[in-house]
Amino acid sequence: MSDFKLADRLSTLPPYLFAAIDKAKAEVAAQGMDIISLGIGDPDLPTPNFIIEALHEAAKKPVNHQYPSYVGMLGFRQAVADWYKERFNVDLDAEKEVVSLIGSKEGIAHFPLAYINPGDIALIATPNYPVYGIATSFAGGQAEYLPLLEENDFLIDLDAVSDDMWAKAKMIFVCYPNNPTAATATKEFYERLIEKAREFNVIVVSDAAYTEIYYDSENKPLSIFECEGAKDVCIEFHSLSKTYNMTGWRVGMAVGNSDLIAGLGKIKENVDSGIFQAVQEAGIAALKQGEPYAEQFRAIYKERRDVVSAALTKIGIKHRVPDAAFYMWCHTPEGYTSSEFVTNVLKQTGVVLTPGQGFGAPGEGYFRISLTVNNDLLEEAVSRISKL
Ligand code: MLT
Repeated sequence: MSDFKLADRLSTLPPYLFAAIDKAKAEVAAQGMDIISLGIGDPDLPTPNFIIEALHEAAKKPVNHQYPSYVGMLGFRQAVADWYKERFNVDLDAEKEVVSLIGSKEGIAHFPLAYINPGDIALIATPNYPVYGIATSFAGGQAEYLPLLEENDFLIDLDAVSDDMWAKAKMIFVCYPNNPTAATATKEFYERLIEKAREFNVIVVSDAAYTEIYYDSENKPLSIFECEGAKDVCIEFHSLSKTYNMTGWRVGMAVGNSDLIAGLGKIKENVDSGIFQAVQEAGIAALKQGEPYAEQFRAIYKERRDVVSAALTKIGIKHRVPDAAFYMWCHTPEGYTSSEFVTNVLKQTGVVLTPGQGFGAPGEGYFRISLTVNNDLLEEAVSRISKL
């Protein structure tokens, strides 16, 4: 037995949402329940074979067996810049405006350490990916949550944020396509956000991990850098995880304002040693040749979205049909909190959902379905829920 006490920053932290879900799932599975996991946004589809082949070839090169560069191979950063140009028509300087990440979670978790001093305020659009608040608190900062409401299409009501609050804030976290609500940002919204951030010298942290999971190719999700002035105040986090089914590979990138990229780079050179170069070479292949595969994945998610939407409608569960991201944001049936509902569903049916409240208080009244299993399992899951 040891008598080591966790630091306050950990002992006061609630359990990490997805770890808590895994634990609950394991407990129910241990009782023999057949589990259908719609809890975490972890694509079930395999990484395309050409990416695996690229890894295989790159892993054979001895030069790739040594320490990688802290900021990423120039070839990887150039592939990111080329991809941003092709996809968003955004020009990036691969040397100064791109840094590689060991998955975007790593970058998001480290970024506040570069700019937040104890007591500084970070504004967080919520419901939100829990890492924004956790990273802020690890840096000693204080999170102020800005509610995303259905009546505002889950966009922050920027005019409801007082000048006093803007003046106090050091950074603001936004995520579009949004996890968990699956809402997308309009250009007007981003432009107004940038205007406010420039006025009050606030850093905009845009989490754009889901821009490639969309359902209407005439209306593709934006990068914040498609808007004028973004490079003055913004950093955007992105990842190969969701686009090419590479969550386990841990490969992502941050792009944007060169000072912000350098600030994050300074933290990273002190705490990590970059991504295995063979993974970066596979990442280059994905960025250069992955689009036809991404197109196929989108078609699969679209079918799943439509299957689930029809099944939920049939059993009277109100939900938002997403324009992007592989999540369905659904209203909890009356009489339950989101945690009660999700716990009941798990215990009685073996279906794993995510409680809206786990993403922050404004998520209460909702639960999230992740479209990361096949149509048969999705139909089976909704059918089990309907029997409750
Ligand atoms: C989620 O389910 O919200 C995400 O998969 C979590 C993550 O990307 O780390």
